Amino acid sequence: MELVKVKDYNEMSAKACSIILDMMEQEKNPVLGLATGSTPEGLYQQFIHQYNIGNVSFSNVTTFNLDEYVGLSEQDPNSYHYYMKDKLFHHIDINLEQVNIPNGRARDLEQECLDYERKIKESGHIDIQVLGLGLNGHIGFNEPGTAFSSKTHVVKLAESTRKANSRFFSKLEQVPREAITMGIETIMQAKKILLLVSGEKKSNALTRLIEGEVSEDFPASILKHHPNVVVLADTAAC
Ligand code: F6R
Repeated sequence: MELVKVKDYNEMSAKACSIILDMMEQEKNPVLGLATGSTPEGLYQQFIHQYNIGNVSFSNVTTFNLDEYVGLSEQDPNSYHYYMKDKLFHHIDINLEQVNIPNGRARDLEQECLDYERKIKESGHIDIQVLGLGLNGHIGFNEPGTAFSSKTHVVKLAESTRKANSRFFSKLEQVPREAITMGIETIMQAKKILLLVSGEKKSNALTRLIEGEVSEDFPASILKHHPNVVVLADTAAC
């Protein structure tokens, strides 16, 4: 795991963008793993900027998002489908047929998880997976205690995660109790992982990641066993 310290959120976003664009230049059909939440918003703005100035096209890119709430429609502003279109996909030339986000309204959620896992395999695996860090060490929606061997699955959200995410909803009760998430093993199969960590409120989680042992009690700790992880962390988080 390589820790790269950057000055602030903007530098983190710009550096993440340049690492990903470098990979996209080398791959004929790049496969990107994407996240939602506050952390990658700056990265998505950088993608849009690079696209607008003619530096990059996303037309040959396939994407897989980490997760989606169970029960929210794609039009719900709190769904991750909505977030991705609003913050990125509607502003670049990506082919929406090559965009993959778990369907949290699938009739058969278990089947949806199996299909999602299969699609990732068929794509030839994710070239770079972008991750944010949960305050309790979660990655995707894999909460503490999730098996490192987990594949895409339905999860019950920890109350701390529901509370943290309630800032996007008008009331805590509106935050869904379940989600579909790529599993930890699914994430670990990405060829490269880019973990973005910004802000003072992430400093305890970052310290535990760097100094703590590898344990299912702190899901992100497994990243120490991946051969190609870059942690981009800003001064406030460090
Ligand atoms: C988002 C996701 C989550 C977030 C994490 C950090 O798709 O899977 O693991 O990356 O909760 O969230 P923010 O970036 O809002 O601090």
